[in-house]
Amino acid sequence: MTDQSPSEIALESRQAKAARLFSPSAARNRDAIGDLLAGLLPPSARVLEIGSGTGEHAVSVCQRRPDIGWQPSDPDAVSRASQNAWAAEMAPNMRPSLDLDLTRPGWDAGLGGFDALVCLNVIHIAPWAVAEAIAAASRTLIAGDDSLVYLYGPYLEGAATAPSNLDFDRSLKSRNAQWGVRARSDVEALFAAAGWAAPDRHEMPANNLSLVFRRRSPL
Ligand SMILES: C[S@@+](CC[C@H](N)C(=O)[O-])C[C@H]1O[C@@H](n2cnc3c(N)ncnc32)[C@H](O)[C@@H]1O
Repeated sequence: MTDQSPSEIALESRQAKAARLFSPSAARNRDAIGDLLAGLLPPSARVLEIGSGTGEHAVSVCQRRPDIGWQPSDPDAVSRASQNAWAAEMAPNMRPSLDLDLTRPGWDAGLGGFDALVCLNVIHIAPWAVAEAIAAASRTLIAGDDSLVYLYGPYLEGAATAPSNLDFDRSLKSRNAQWGVRARSDVEALFAAAGWAAPDRHEMPANNLSLVFRRRSPL
């Protein structure tokens, strides 16, 4: 047991078919994410996803890549039930979802041996400590020269920031002062300090980005 209160979790309104949940935003971006990520993961990759939500992105990648093993997770029990229901229906290469809240000390106990860390639409809607925890986990939970970290979401990019992302940032901060669209430069600095090269930047639907971090080559 822990005496820590759970951190606030924001979930969009989702439609349900039994335990399976359907996210309107996932319907718009899951194919673009599935196509990109399926082409990046090494053969037989073991993937840990943080904040898997409905589980639809996991299904999208797993169906394209039956050779991989996907470990979904979420601190929200209803989301975990959805991920498990999607897995049972459509993606045998998805493992039973784990209850991982990255603001909890020791959240990564017993985990390891992954080739990729994946996190979609989480770091802006959670405390910055969650981004820091992902960067810390990228040092300890994944190994191998072709391992990678894949982050998807909106970012601030100085004067080039899309107006919709500035509005989104304001709205997030008004809901919770610890949330907010993150500056790409801050995220890159965090991962550089954890040993990752500057990421490949892919433009995605609705002014979102995919950032793909790979290991810095030794000099
Ligand atoms: C906006 S939803 C994104 C869900 C899914 N990745 C997607 O893109 O559709 C944010 C997700 O982050 C999860 N989350 C929030 N706080 C978290 C934390 N402290 N640790 C891990 N996951 C968290 C929520 O439960 C939720 O599933």
